[in-house]
Amino acid sequence: MSGDLQVNKILGAVLATGLVIMGVKLGAEAIYKREAPEKPGYAIEVAEAAAGGGAAAAEVLPDWGTVIPKADIAAGEKTFQTKCTSCHNNANGGPNATGPNLWGVVGRPTASHGGFAYSDAMKAHATDAPNWSWDALFHFLGAPQKVVKGTKMTFAGVKKPEERINLIAYLHSQGSTGYAVPAPDPSRAPGAAPAAGAVPASGAAPAAGAPTTETPAKPASGTKTDTPLSGGSAASSSAAAPKH
Ligand code: HEC
Repeated sequence: MSGDLQVNKILGAVLATGLVIMGVKLGAEAIYKREAPEKPGYAIEVAEAAAGGGAAAAEVLPDWGTVIPKADIAAGEKTFQTKCTSCHNNANGGPNATGPNLWGVVGRPTASHGGFAYSDAMKAHATDAPNWSWDALFHFLGAPQKVVKGTKMTFAGVKKPEERINLIAYLHSQGSTGYAVPAPDPSRAPGAAPAAGAVPASGAAPAAGAPTTETPAKPASGTKTDTPLSGGSAASSSAAAPKH
């Protein structure tokens, strides 16, 4: 009888010790696993926050009169086929699918296509953006869920400005050629825009207060916001120029 109790006590002690050891091991692993990626991840995060914040705040609107005649419509068609046709038909008189038919969507009144049940969010967006102007499409297609909060269009967006421009040029060629391409606008030309982007950048500089490495990066990030656009349109200009 007392022997059995003794055995139970010993077994209990062994079990408890085992549990404690396991607990310590798991805890240690959790600490080590968390610590390993923390250092490199932290360093990258700082760099991205600086670059990404600036880029988002200062997304330069294209000078449509300059970029559309130079755009690569074939590349835009490819983007449409890979990223949009799962939800959109864009044939003239074609059906609505998960999303509305997109024939002639450039310049078309927002949330207006017959027979499609738009979300309340998209209907409300029509008050802010009554038609799918060049700028409205450029904004929306970059981040649909952010621009129209609550939209049924569950699509992350086409992040690269050049790709979006080519896509919009393709959409324009599909039933929207009656919607005029505006004249080139010098105030949107590369070099005219950084003023808008420079405001948050220069405002952040003194707050950051880091005396050494920060300083040279600031002017560079201010001027850099233009580079992808002008580079992209220049690169595609030779390919598509003869068409227009
Ligand atoms: C996962 C499905 C899906 C994908 C992928 C998708 N869309 Fe949509 N799209 C929708 C839905 C659904 C709506 C209606 C949104 C609403 O009512 O909130 C919509 C609406 C739109 C509108 C507004 C049309 C109008 O009549 O007001 C445009 C423009 C548009 N999509 C373009 C695109 C383009 C260009 C792509 C590819 C880059 C794309 N969509 C990819 C589902 C999708």
